Amino acid sequence: MISGKKINRRIIGYDLDKIRIEELKNGIDRNSDSEINNFQNIESLEFTDKIDRLKNIDVFIVTVPTPINKKKEPDLSFIIEASRTIGNLINRDNSTNDNQIIIYESTVYPGVTEDICVPLIKKFSKKIFNSDNYQNSFYCGYSPERINPGDTENTIEKIKKVTSGSNKKVAYWIDSFYASFIKAGTYKSKSIKVAEAAKIIENTQRDINIALVNELAILFKKLNLDTNDILETAATKWNFHKYKPGLVGGHCIGVDPYYLTFKAKEIGFQTDLITSGRKINDRMYKYLLEQILLQARKRKIIQQKEKVLILGISYKENCSDIRNSQILLLAEKMIKQNMDVTLVDPIVNSQKVFEKIKIKSYRSIPEEMKFTLIILALNHKEFNFLSNQKIKKISYPETIIFDLTYKLIGDNIFYL
Ligand SMILES: NC(=O)c1ccc[n+]([C@@H]2O[C@H](COP(=O)([O-])OP(=O)(O)OC[C@H]3O[C@@H](n4cnc5c(N)ncnc54)[C@H](O)[C@@H]3O)[C@@H](O)[C@H]2O)c1
Repeated sequence: MISGKKINRRIIGYDLDKIRIEELKNGIDRNSDSEINNFQNIESLEFTDKIDRLKNIDVFIVTVPTPINKKKEPDLSFIIEASRTIGNLINRDNSTNDNQIIIYESTVYPGVTEDICVPLIKKFSKKIFNSDNYQNSFYCGYSPERINPGDTENTIEKIKKVTSGSNKKVAYWIDSFYASFIKAGTYKSKSIKVAEAAKIIENTQRDINIALVNELAILFKKLNLDTNDILETAATKWNFHKYKPGLVGGHCIGVDPYYLTFKAKEIGFQTDLITSGRKINDRMYKYLLEQILLQARKRKIIQQKEKVLILGISYKENCSDIRNSQILLLAEKMIKQNMDVTLVDPIVNSQKVFEKIKIKSYRSIPEEMKFTLIILALNHKEFNFLSNQKIKKISYPETIIFDLTYKLIGDNIFYL
């Protein structure tokens, strides 16, 4: 394999989660990341939750979750478990083939692949790591996943793939492997740690940019100035980067910077900017609630029980993923404040929402209902039909409308 001979690819998608495997077999991708219908015609592709199907594998690609725990520190338990599993699978006493390559794609801080995963594989496989004579050995690489959930334009084959390997020959092999199916091409990084760090800073940079506009939005509101107008004006300069204030959620932008701050802390370095950015973005839903309550108090008629409609509850537009959705955190807070909350999202799985926050969610706005507070949270394409007139039909004259999408225009409409 490493000699560069042409390979016949037999691909197995393995997951511990039986339900997910069933979904994939039926063409359902719960993260809305892929045009999964394309998969169903690939003969050599098998989805399974049976570990004994993983025999004679040459290349492992690890894409397990890398979340944070309650203390907002990296939870490496999945990647550790996956490395143990692979170590056992390629164990020199059980495995008939040799020189396997393990490529990690999960987002991690620099050092996780070589300093945490490789020692585990070594231990459980009893093989040599990176041996020069390609005997009784295994190799590894890191190639970060850069998909942009909900983005139908920049799909996986259109995003340049960063690659890296544990030695020059392996790095070359891994790079050619991805280049064979990623149309946008590849970028062979100088080392595994460089590739790991590069992925983390892509999302950290975005997090900080959003934190900056969020802080500016808070400041400008206090100054009674319109943030959107200011951003439009500033963006007339060619080198001004236009970001909009908003709620950062999901499993990437709101999580990855914590991996970097953890690593920094481990070596005794205090990150100021990254940590502040996270603090600002993590509390934006609380700020939004404060703004909503402020406007509600200004109303002439005081509502005994606010009837709230939230349109869009995933963490991002056109994406069904509800992980770390700040909108759901907002909904929970509103319920605690005795508000009657109706959640509407045409693309999220209502059952998952219920399991998470014990509130029923609807795919469309329930008929005959009117609301005292409306939050248009996401610009899902299914909400394209929403206009000022449509919103008016489900509003009372004193209804407060918060538009986080900057789509509606009017006197009683508020923005972040
Ligand atoms: N999805 C994206 O858009 C995206 C983008 C960039 C980076 N990433 C990174 O990719 C990684 C995975 O993210 P995701 O969104 O695909 O996560 P996910 O939770 O949707 O999928 C991970 C899957 O791994 C399975 N799993 C966990 N442990 C396992 C094990 N030991 N053996 C087999 N299967 C196991 C889980 O059951 C789950 O189905 C994360 O590190 C994430 O940060 C994801």
